[in-house]
Amino acid sequence: LEVLHRFWTGNLTVDMLGPRLQKVLKVQLSSNKHQVVYRGPRGPRRSGPQLYCDLKRRTRIRTVDGTQEPFSSLGWAHLVPPRPLDQIWTPQYRTCAVVTSAGSILNSSLGAEIDSHDAVLRFNSAPTRGFERDVGNKTTLRIINSQIVSRPEHQFSSSPLYRDVALLLWDPAPYSANLTAWFLKPDFNLFSPYVERRRLRPQQPFYVLHPEFIWSLWDLIQDHTQDQIQPNPPSSGFIGIVVMMSLCRDVSVYEFIPSLRRTDLCHYYERYRDNACTLGAYHPLLYEKLLLQRMNQGTSMELKAKGKLTLRGLRDLSC
Ligand code: C5P
Repeated sequence: LEVLHRFWTGNLTVDMLGPRLQKVLKVQLSSNKHQVVYRGPRGPRRSGPQLYCDLKRRTRIRTVDGTQEPFSSLGWAHLVPPRPLDQIWTPQYRTCAVVTSAGSILNSSLGAEIDSHDAVLRFNSAPTRGFERDVGNKTTLRIINSQIVSRPEHQFSSSPLYRDVALLLWDPAPYSANLTAWFLKPDFNLFSPYVERRRLRPQQPFYVLHPEFIWSLWDLIQDHTQDQIQPNPPSSGFIGIVVMMSLCRDVSVYEFIPSLRRTDLCHYYERYRDNACTLGAYHPLLYEKLLLQRMNQGTSMELKAKGKLTLRGLRDLSC
């Protein structure tokens, strides 16, 4: 409960996480798999309004559009959807919900509230069937990582989870965002499944996030954090929340900051238990959560009881 309370008030620090997670953080820092070279400032606490403006100024949603090599030579300009991602929803959606996959959403009865939003974002292979009472059943957009399209067990080409929704695909690239290096050696092969799907379902809005966008989010988190954070891309959850803040006027996020229902159950749809899913190991997840806690516009009651963060969209901000 101490940890939870510190989550809600923004006072959680790494030394409270226990030896295993601290060790993982150290290992990640020393291996620096994505060759992060960070020269920016670190961490003087800035206020909520300053964070909003910083987010708006520094992180414009960007997808691979086929204008840069190696994608231009491969003809991607004609392969990607003709409309840019930030124009697929016109007029802009008013209210949007982001449903994280945390086990603590079980027994929340939040389904109806989630579905009452104009648009709903879900992650990876998170199902709704059988979980409607707690997570709702509307899905407008799904963010998927490269494992979803490349690992056979996810059945990307046949599963109904990935049909009739907009899809946003991402893969950790080098920090330099060198597209050729990334193309030659992605974490998981995402490029051929993407090309195949675009040919098969040209009407489906399906985008690959640009590595510069992903790493600009990482820079932002590090800038606003005193500690050195894991030199790995932010979690799908954080990426998705910022995407929705760019596309919507108001964003409700469920169980990113854990509610009183907090559990070690990793996902609501699996039996696997590991507190790293909530606190972070590979991803700088704890820092992502502390940053968004500072931007919360909702009440602490909603945070505790529903695990709900209320965030403002970026478009209408006057900075
Ligand atoms: O595990 P997966 O990435 O599919 O989950 C979607 C997102 O939900 C994560 O990227 C993370 O931001 C969030 N999450 C969480 N706590 C958990 C599980 C997921 O905050 N226990």
